[in-house]
Amino acid sequence: MEKQSKSKNQPIRIALAKGRVARQAIKVLENLGYVFPDYSKESRKLVFRDKDDQLAFFLVKSPDVPTYVENGTADIGIVGRDILLEHPADVYELLNLDFGRCKMCVAGFEDLDISFNKKLTVATKYPNIAKTYFDSIDQPAEYIYLGGSVELAPVLGMSDCIVDIVETGTTLKENKLVVERDILDISSRLIANKVSLKTKKDKITPIINRFEQELKNENNKKSSSK
Ligand code: PRP
Repeated sequence: MEKQSKSKNQPIRIALAKGRVARQAIKVLENLGYVFPDYSKESRKLVFRDKDDQLAFFLVKSPDVPTYVENGTADIGIVGRDILLEHPADVYELLNLDFGRCKMCVAGFEDLDISFNKKLTVATKYPNIAKTYFDSIDQPAEYIYLGGSVELAPVLGMSDCIVDIVETGTTLKENKLVVERDILDISSRLIANKVSLKTKKDKITPIINRFEQELKNENNKKSSSK
């Protein structure tokens, strides 16, 4: 009984994908009125509670966000669509938050030849997405998984091309690579644990509503500035 009431008073736990997604997500949470007194970009702390103890966010590697949400350690999470496609999890995808926009692309040197009679070597952090794409166009390919700095692979001659996210295009440009094909549009998604959404509905619904309202406000701002 005591345990139950203790968990009822716990803040809603939200897992954020470290890096760009988290930085933008925290800005949105602050716009929604949450104040995190301990948070600063420089802080090495991993869990931050808002001053009213309604929400606690923690920062994890992006592929771990669906894992934390699926097993209920986090009630909700914010993560890119790229991660949800690469690491499918049994969670509810509630909202397209429309930030963290980028594209999943095939990139290589300008003279890259994507032709069906040549097997391509593809370096990527996203082997499932890459395979789904190349299979869909009947392109024979083999895949090398890398954890980061994927652009190095064609530069050093380890692969013919990469499948990776492109945001500003700076990394490609500085390494003399170009986009060959756009595969997917990516943006951040709000996801929820299936049980939490039922058992903590009274606490989670207002948070979702606030995100929805913020999205509407942003869209109104965009359309009135056109
Ligand atoms: C991502 C991605 C590209 C880069 C693209 O890497 O894998 O390398 O960003 O961004 P741009 O188009 O704005 O240059 P990230 O910075 O997440 O680091 P990583 O290479 O270590 O994965």
